Amino acid sequence: MRIAVVHGPNLNLLGTREPGVYGRTTLAEIDAALQRLGGELGAEVACFQSNHEGALVDHVQRQGPGVDGFVVNAAAFTHTSVALADALAGVARPYVEVHLSNVFARERFRHRSYIAAGALGVVSGFGADSYLMGLRALVEHLKK
Ligand code: DQA
Repeated sequence: MRIAVVHGPNLNLLGTREPGVYGRTTLAEIDAALQRLGGELGAEVACFQSNHEGALVDHVQRQGPGVDGFVVNAAAFTHTSVALADALAGVARPYVEVHLSNVFARERFRHRSYIAAGALGVVSGFGADSYLMGLRALVEHLKK
């Protein structure tokens, strides 16, 4: 089983970016934890981060045919990107939307997600663990 993890803009700054909101875990630490959990669950996990919407769209299009599903933290593009939502719909692979923070407890503009409607589910508010919960849920779904 192959899973692609997609990280959107500014997540490369995790560790130092607004630690009160996003915690102190770095993106490299999150990716390592995802790979470790993937190993335990029998899934090969490949992680990708970009600050550019088009690069994320290209990545989803390229990876889609070769993966069983995605774990996606589209970051700010969650709330703005029809293009990324269309790319995920276009490749027709199941995906889980994840967020470190509880977006529903924050500003109103973060309550809207363009990608949630096509997702298997959304995990939001558990810090770096949101990714691990999302991966576990996706793999469980795929194994059924
Ligand atoms: C985020 C929440 C988004 O609203 C924000 O723009 C991010 C990170 C999260 O993981 O909590 O960059 O996706």
